Amino acid sequence: MELTKQEQAMLDGKEGYAVRKSMEILVALGDIFDAQHLIDVGSVQVAGVSYHNLGDAGLEFLNSLAKDGRVKVLTTLNPAGMDLENWQQLGIDPDFAKKQNLVIDAFQRMDILVSCTCTPYLIGNLPIYGEHLAWSESSAVTFANSVLGARTNREGGPSALAAAFVGKTPCYGLHLDENRVPNIHVEVNAELSKLSDWGALGYAIGKKAENKIAYITNIKTAQLDELKSFCASMVTYGTKPLFYIKGITPGAELQKQPDRTITIDQADLKNAYDNINDENVSDIDFVCVGCPHCSIKEIQEIAELLRDKKVKEGTELWVASSRTVKQLSDKRGYTATIEAAGGKFACDTCMAVAPLKGRFKALATTSAKGCFYSRQNLMKTKMGSMKECIDAAVTGKWN
Ligand code: F3S
Repeated sequence: MELTKQEQAMLDGKEGYAVRKSMEILVALGDIFDAQHLIDVGSVQVAGVSYHNLGDAGLEFLNSLAKDGRVKVLTTLNPAGMDLENWQQLGIDPDFAKKQNLVIDAFQRMDILVSCTCTPYLIGNLPIYGEHLAWSESSAVTFANSVLGARTNREGGPSALAAAFVGKTPCYGLHLDENRVPNIHVEVNAELSKLSDWGALGYAIGKKAENKIAYITNIKTAQLDELKSFCASMVTYGTKPLFYIKGITPGAELQKQPDRTITIDQADLKNAYDNINDENVSDIDFVCVGCPHCSIKEIQEIAELLRDKKVKEGTELWVASSRTVKQLSDKRGYTATIEAAGGKFACDTCMAVAPLKGRFKALATTSAKGCFYSRQNLMKTKMGSMKECIDAAVTGKWN
């Protein structure tokens, strides 16, 4: 990879330890993927924030970089392992909280915004069409590439951090036109009537179009919340973090419809639900909505569904969102309604990165991705509409 004089100086350590380490990571990556040069990035989104995943070795690595590393571009964080303010209420162990706070402290010293969300585009890290980024979290990467038309590879935590300290990333993969060409046509002949249908659709396409870039036709309308759910599911279950939906996502009109076509019909959606949902689950002890993190519109819907109701004793309801979106919810009174019903906000965190293994038996959620990770946390899973999930929270049952 060719380096400019300034980049070479960074690699030689002229800007200190963190920048030198970062350049070493970026140059190694660039060499592996045959990048010709580095490109400027407009923003960075860093995953690998939960102490649950980082452990002491990860914390030590972050502290070593935080000594002199300061980010050069807008950099936001993925969810952490706990709500940074209300962790006790969510049953987080104090020793874990102590370590998680040390992780956050290291990120803060690097001048990173402690946003702790997988929907940075809802709270001010909103890239424009064609902008180059270094983002990490898979649903956010897919949203940035597909719904916003920005350009990012799916970075690991260290390579995203490295891009933040340097302000650049190696130019390969989804930064290049030739790698953004769709290579499978997906015709959707299924009805999408509720939010979770988009998760089921993502599962169905992910499985059938594994590791491809899908060019999707026959979808008439899509809302932001549906697209964010779809992005999370598609990439979790198998595709590249980029798709086009004809007539809906930007840049689709510039692409040629690929020759190879697969179809997704109602039976594929049913098959997706059958695979995502466990059989013989009637009692629900955990309901978690907000994967990806809830928008203010979703929180409004939850508040309306919970009005004058109570969450069943023995069942926990988490509404996962960014703290910034929750502040809007506080102002509109949605938070008060949800909390009066016994629901809990889980800001800064999510069901995949919080230490939940063995804590709950059966989850109800709107999210196909949430089901995937909760199974790893040894939960049985049920996916359905927002109403079905809130009903499960109120009755403690899945109907
Ligand atoms: Fe976001 Fe966690 Fe889901 S990072 S997409 S809420 S698994």
